[in-house]
Amino acid sequence: MNKLKKAIIPAAGLGTRFLPITKVIPKPMLSVLDKPTIQYIIEELKDADIEEIIVVVSPNSDIIKNHFGKNEQLEQRLLSDGKQSLYEIAKETYKPNIKFVVQETANGLAGAILCAEPYVKDQPFALLLGDELLVADKGQKSCMKKLTEIYENTGKSVIATMEVFGDDVSKYGNLGIGNEQDGVMTVTDILEKPSVNEALSNNAIIGRYVISGEVMQLLKTLKPHGNEIYLTDALEHLAKKGQLLATCIEDDRYDVGDKFGYIRANVEMALKSKEIGEETKEYIKNLAKTL
Ligand code: G1P
Repeated sequence: MNKLKKAIIPAAGLGTRFLPITKVIPKPMLSVLDKPTIQYIIEELKDADIEEIIVVVSPNSDIIKNHFGKNEQLEQRLLSDGKQSLYEIAKETYKPNIKFVVQETANGLAGAILCAEPYVKDQPFALLLGDELLVADKGQKSCMKKLTEIYENTGKSVIATMEVFGDDVSKYGNLGIGNEQDGVMTVTDILEKPSVNEALSNNAIIGRYVISGEVMQLLKTLKPHGNEIYLTDALEHLAKKGQLLATCIEDDRYDVGDKFGYIRANVEMALKSKEIGEETKEYIKNLAKTL
């Protein structure tokens, strides 16, 4: 079996769409309810049993490292005040297994992946884009768990996809699809953000992948588009060799790099919350009457 051990989380975006808050707070620390977005993404890996996590951050992101470090003073205080459940919440964020690497220049997704090379070398890796939250229905496997199982059974790279329509096809990487068996599709071709007319299908790449080890070296050989290398170009090489798979994901997906996506995530997580779900529902119902 091909055991997948490593994950890369590119989270170095400057978050200019969220200025002024992102002037000093790194974008991955923006919170959905009470947790920073980066914590949701790291929690998605628990189910997939991947423990070696590399987070690619922008310079001046110490606050992210601190969030996943120890805060002895806070933990002691919560214990001595008898606040056991809050202590557990604080302790839960201590993740010594996370490695942080700094992406000095903003040279895109492939640039972020290459920053993680010293830890990944030629090993396969999971890739989780830091701007996207995926939430599976209760009792369902997480997206990363599904991708990991497909990779471990086939040894092939695999992409999570969702159907998108109309102008939205141009916002995503786009997949040409071949055979399908048991929900696993062969990818025959791939285009980065095509025009509506060029699109190969309605299958968009969403921000979860498992990528085979050869891609790290492949990225170094590709021609940049401007100053950016496209991961999609490397994946195209795999597709041409029949080495790329995709599977449709039905999880709730939130683009938290976008203001509306961020608000949606907060509202829907609030509705699902045990603590404030009911009052949020009442509030929204009453608010809707006034709109
Ligand atoms: C990146 C990828 C694109 C993918 C998208 C998913 O684009 O390049 O193929 O569809 O993430 O969100 P970005 O949104 O970073 O421009």
